[in-house]
Amino acid sequence: MTSSIYELYGEIWGKVDSELGADLRKSLNPRNPSMLYDMFGGLGVKPDAKVLDVGCRDASHAVELARRFRCQVIAVDPVALHIEKAKKLVSNVGLEHHVEVKAGCIEALPLDDASVDYIWCRDMLLHVDLPESFTECFRVLRTEGTMLIYQVFATEMCEPLEAERLFKALSFVPESTMEENFETAAQKAGFKIISKEQLDSEWREAEIEVGDKSLLDHLLYIARMRRARDEMIRQYGEVRYEVNYAGWLLGIYQMLGKLCPTVYILRKPSEGAQAIVA
Ligand SMILES: C[S@@+](CC[C@H](N)C(=O)[O-])C[C@H]1O[C@@H](n2cnc3c(N)ncnc32)[C@H](O)[C@@H]1O
Repeated sequence: MTSSIYELYGEIWGKVDSELGADLRKSLNPRNPSMLYDMFGGLGVKPDAKVLDVGCRDASHAVELARRFRCQVIAVDPVALHIEKAKKLVSNVGLEHHVEVKAGCIEALPLDDASVDYIWCRDMLLHVDLPESFTECFRVLRTEGTMLIYQVFATEMCEPLEAERLFKALSFVPESTMEENFETAAQKAGFKIISKEQLDSEWREAEIEVGDKSLLDHLLYIARMRRARDEMIRQYGEVRYEVNYAGWLLGIYQMLGKLCPTVYILRKPSEGAQAIVA
């Protein structure tokens, strides 16, 4: 009888839920974004080492790198507003002797060959052509210099239409969202891949576990934007609507496994050394 099937389902699901639930309430000890500074420190950065922060936005990471490691940071970004904010921040915290802010882009860095010891490249390679960018980073890095990269990849769980909408709204270069392309481009430029760590949803889980409710807000915004789509597009225009919508989706897609943040350490090997994936 139908009713007994419902009863059975209720019993099974209730049981599975309560047993599984106990495990689901246990943290998997996710790491948070400060892990990148720890990884960078693990590279043995010495005071006065020269570090390039490429795609620095407001230089908040450049400032933190200079504070933690007493290194000399060159912070580069192509956006005038970012440069203005970056200069203001550096001056406000009195780190002008440690952080130099320069307008420029990764495809043509305003730096001499082999002039930096480290490159910090956080969340910006999605916006650019990978072969060109890696070749330029390789040029400015000294031999045996190291590059730390935080990059978000699209996974096979990200459906083509979802990917297309997200990439268009956020100006991602589709080829640059693919892990295979990334590794091929890095190695073709001459880099050796020293390590690779998939962070998956760790940072987002960590946010929730410390009581940050942003992700729940973002879900709510997505729901409201969907239901009031036409009205919002009339009021704010389609581009603004799409950029905001895609921005809220980033964290949610990470939680769902459609996007996978990954950290790489690359090294510029001494001449003759073989480029291999660790
Ligand atoms: C998502 S933000 C990341 C900012 C910062 N690195 C962080 O992790 O918070 C991407 C940054 O890359 C910069 N960017 C975009 N195209 C670039 C290019 N061709 N060369 C260098 N930076 C670029 C943007 O202006 C922006 O500041």
